[in-house]
Order: sequence, then C-alpha cells, then structure tokens
Amino acid sequence: MVKLMRVLLVGAGGRESAIAEALSKDSELYVVAKHVNPGIKRLVRGYGLTKETDVQKVLDFALKWNIDLAFIGPEAPLEKGIVNVLEENGIPTVGPSKEAAQLETNKAFARVLMEKYKIPGRKLFRVFDNVAEMKAWIDDFGKPVVVKPLGLTGGKGVKVVGYQLGDNEEAKGYAEALIKKDGRVLIEERTDGVEFTFQVFTDGKKIIPMPLAQDYPHAYEGDVGPITGGMGSYSCENHLLPFVTKDDYEKALKTLEKTVEAMRKEGTPYKGILYGQFMLARDEPKIIEFNARFGDPEAMNVLPILKTSLLEISEEIIDGSLRKAEFEKKATVVKYLAPKGYPADPIKGVRLEIREDKIREEGAKAYYASVDESFRMLGSRALAIVGIADSLEEAEKIASAGIKHVRGEIFYRADIGTRESIAKRIELMKAIRGE
Ligand code: GLY
Repeated sequence: MVKLMRVLLVGAGGRESAIAEALSKDSELYVVAKHVNPGIKRLVRGYGLTKETDVQKVLDFALKWNIDLAFIGPEAPLEKGIVNVLEENGIPTVGPSKEAAQLETNKAFARVLMEKYKIPGRKLFRVFDNVAEMKAWIDDFGKPVVVKPLGLTGGKGVKVVGYQLGDNEEAKGYAEALIKKDGRVLIEERTDGVEFTFQVFTDGKKIIPMPLAQDYPHAYEGDVGPITGGMGSYSCENHLLPFVTKDDYEKALKTLEKTVEAMRKEGTPYKGILYGQFMLARDEPKIIEFNARFGDPEAMNVLPILKTSLLEISEEIIDGSLRKAEFEKKATVVKYLAPKGYPADPIKGVRLEIREDKIREEGAKAYYASVDESFRMLGSRALAIVGIADSLEEAEKIASAGIKHVRGEIFYRADIGTRESIAKRIELMKAIRGE
C-alpha cells in the first residue's frame, strides 16, 4: 500500500476548511489551530490546540506527528516566521518566509517594492513618522488620500477607517493617531473603482492564476455597514468577472508576475499563494494590497472547483517545479453566516442548528469557521454555505437554499452574487470609464 504523506495544516477557519477538504483527498492530514473546527476535525488524524502564532508549539506538534509537509492558512503565523522555523527543522512548508510575507505584513514594503521595480498597478504613496510633515504633504497633494496602518489589521477594524476616508481633515486626524500609536503611517492616493480578488499559486518563479473572485466586505446588504473579513464572494464559470475585461485581467496578471519576479531579484523569493486585492480603476487595475495567503472567503470559491491535486501543487511549490492547476468551468457563490452583532459586538456561545443532510440535498456545501465542536458561535464568521453550478444565477440559488437549513442568532447578506448587486458594479465601472 502507498504510504500517504503526513500533512500539517495551520488554522481552522472557513478558508482552512476548504484547504483541509482539498488536502485530505490524498494525504494524512493533521491540524493545529486555536479552536476545534467540527468540519475539519472529521477530516484529520490529529488535532493540536494552540494559538497559530505560537510557532514553537506548532513545531512541537509537527515533530511529534512526523509531518512531511506543512500548509499555512492565515497571515498572522507567517508574520511570526512560521515558514522559516518549520523549514529550518526539516519540514517543507507552503507559504512565504517571514521576509517574503512582508508583502502583506508591511504595507510600506509592498509599495516601495512596486516603486523600485516600476510594477504596473502601483499607487502614489508616502510613509510618514512626523505629524507636521504628513499634514503639510496631504494639504499640498490636494486630492483624496487613503490612510493605512503599516501592519496587519486582521482585515478589519482600523483598516476600515482608512479606506473610507475621502475627507482629508478626517484623514489627517486618523493619520496623526496612527503615527502616535505605531510610529509610522502609510498615505496613498485614493483610487475609485470596483475591487476584485486575484489569487495565484507561485513557486517563486512561475505563477498559475486561479479564477477571479469578488468579495463583499461590508456587513450589510447594499454594501453598507462596517467592513468585515468578508461576508461572502462569488466567481464566474469563465473565471473572469462581469466588469473585468481580458485586457484588465492581463494587466493584473502582469502585476502579480512582476511582483514575484521582483521578490526573487531582491533575494527574498516568494512561494505559496499570492493574493492581489485590486481596485479596477479607470485606466488599469491598481493594487490595494497584497495578501500572503488564500483569501477568506475566496479560498472557498476556488478550491472546491480545483481539479488538480492541491497536494501535488503544494509539492511543486516547494520543489520550485510548479506545472499546472486546473479549475472546473463552474460559477461559485459563498455566503457567510455571522453571529448577530458581528463584527463590532457579536453574540457568542449561542448554538447553531445545522441540518447538514438538508444542505447537501440542496446541492450546497457547508464549511465551518468560528464555531466550536458543539456548534456554538465563537464570535467571528461562523459558517459558510457554498453553491457551485454552471451559472452564477444557479450557484446563488443553491447557496441561498442551503442557508435555509441553518437556524440561530445569525445574519447574512442575501445580495451576494445576485444579478442586482453585480449590475450595480458593472454600472459603477461604466460610469468610471465614461462608457
Ligand atoms: N477576503 C479578504 C481577505 O481574505 O483578506
């Protein structure tokens, strides 16, 4: 009998549920995470409980289980150098080194790199550590700016304010607060347009694109309310998006290729999953930020339709011999169910009633995220329901039908992937491009 590889997955959210499903098809899977995800638990041989950022503890589990290969789900352990530590201890790992992960963990690093290598899709930016200089520059600039903290924000909270600032008085106040708190702040020109997600696999040289996806970061329908980690996302059967032209796609792909090339030239090769969060502006797709891992929820759009073995892709990423990654020509819609009050003041500890058999009968998939073994909500996005079909309309219907079999103190966005919400994005793009 062929001995299966022992694979360690770090993390246990919705994104990691999709990674676990893909890896467990042809490996013996183990997981280390801060909570027990009931869906992932069914797929694994061993479950270690610890904070994902406690790199030493993760390593201890990996050594105990004789792990052959590791796969890192979230960004926080990447920032702590988890890939460096596992690899120094003989465990090949999918994910960028601490140095390479700076593309996500240090927003100024990414902007400086793009400027140095003249990578298309870059934005005008400045980093300030002095309040007076920052204010003077913003006044001189005279156009709307975006204010961002340099480090990780968990995709929520502080970053939100930065994105929504159009009023430069408010921007100056926020930037001043960040200088006082963090010592530095990133100021960028503001670009208006429609955002989209472009994820690629890379072994440090070659990149292989995944289907484009679009995330819905606002908490409530109609794109209002606080910014969340993402309330859901969709992707189309042609792997593009209705408002992204072939030319836009090629430009965005070039941005990602040039970024990987620049990282290699810098002596910090980037391997793993690279996520470009783009703003499709009037002239070209602009990078809003890079992420050094799969998107959450966007991993749930692409992995269920991945035809190639994720384990094989992982081995090729590690060996620097990436060949192919093929996806089914299917549309997908992901809808997250979040506890009432999320993100600011979520209900916690309340149990969800989930009829998995009924969800399956509707043709939908369920990926657990921030719930414990007794299906009690832990405070973040709890459960994702995914519809996959030949058309977006059908995929959306399947996801919505699946949601009916979940009861509890939850809310979700019914508009994700609907014709009306997508039409709004197409119209916005037309207006921006003067069409
Ligand atoms: N959905 C946004 C992210 O994964 O960062």
